[in-house]
Amino acid sequence: MTLVDMVNGTTNVYGLIGSPVVHTLSPLIHNSLNKILNNNNVYVAFDVNARELEDALKGAYALNIQGINVTYPYKEAVMPYLVAIDDYGKQIGAVNTLKKTNEGYIGYNTDAWGLLMSLKEEKIEIENKSILIIGAGGAAKAAAMAIASLSAKKLYISNRTIKRARDLADAVSHYYNLPIELLPLEDINKIDNVDICLQTTSLGMHPQEGQSPINDDDFFHKITSAVDIIYNPWESLFLKKAKKAGCKTVNGFGMLFYQAVKAYEIWTQKEISKENLTALYKSLKNKLML
Ligand code: ATR
Repeated sequence: MTLVDMVNGTTNVYGLIGSPVVHTLSPLIHNSLNKILNNNNVYVAFDVNARELEDALKGAYALNIQGINVTYPYKEAVMPYLVAIDDYGKQIGAVNTLKKTNEGYIGYNTDAWGLLMSLKEEKIEIENKSILIIGAGGAAKAAAMAIASLSAKKLYISNRTIKRARDLADAVSHYYNLPIELLPLEDINKIDNVDICLQTTSLGMHPQEGQSPINDDDFFHKITSAVDIIYNPWESLFLKKAKKAGCKTVNGFGMLFYQAVKAYEIWTQKEISKENLTALYKSLKNKLML
């Protein structure tokens, strides 16, 4: 069935707000979910001007837009306009999913869920493991809260600017009680015996494929699994180096896919079957790797 056959007077509208939004994969993921689950919904990307953010949210509410994803640069800026915020949203200080209720929009952060669901799919366990996060920005914060919520043994945070790593450690310690050690990026090789390394910076993302926050190949012999939030290119330089050293590697597509799945499940209040998810994940992966 094409969109022309499908969209009618009962179609529910969902969407993404951000700026820019031209390269987003969210419409592809959500409309694929609509199709396989036979839901009469459409998902559209909206490029919103910063000055009109409040108007956009009020307008979306008035137009009965049931659910909204929020991306760069509005994940924090939308928070004052929400009637409630979920635990991860509060801890991370940012939300990426809004659900319409009678009172207004409720905010959620499904990025943390996305990472955890992706690691679970890849059979990478967090519980009682030592985890190194590279980076201390917004993506690192979502990753750190997710990891801390699953009882990791120890968290290392390495960042170029150590002050930001300290701020992130303080934020995590406010909610969770786990040992955290900070490491300037130039001292990364002092680390030993890390189970999982999570790369959360944008270094190595298209069009800067030749970059990696870690350039010393010895490092990769000290870790067992390497996870990158980057999915374009499908295999970043960081993951290439990790794979060469024999690490298990996971790129960022799973995190993107599962944050969308979690948002979809919040909106529809129905769990999507594993069979549907596996089939969709494979078909999207084949499309994107071309
Ligand atoms: P996001 O919200 O996407 O995580 P961000 O808040 O700008 O983005 O954070 C970017 C992260 O990439 C930071 O950890 C940043 O390090 P600094 O805190 O030192 O700025 C890291 N980063 C960006 N460019 C980098 C570079 N050239 N070398 C090392 N780290 C870099």
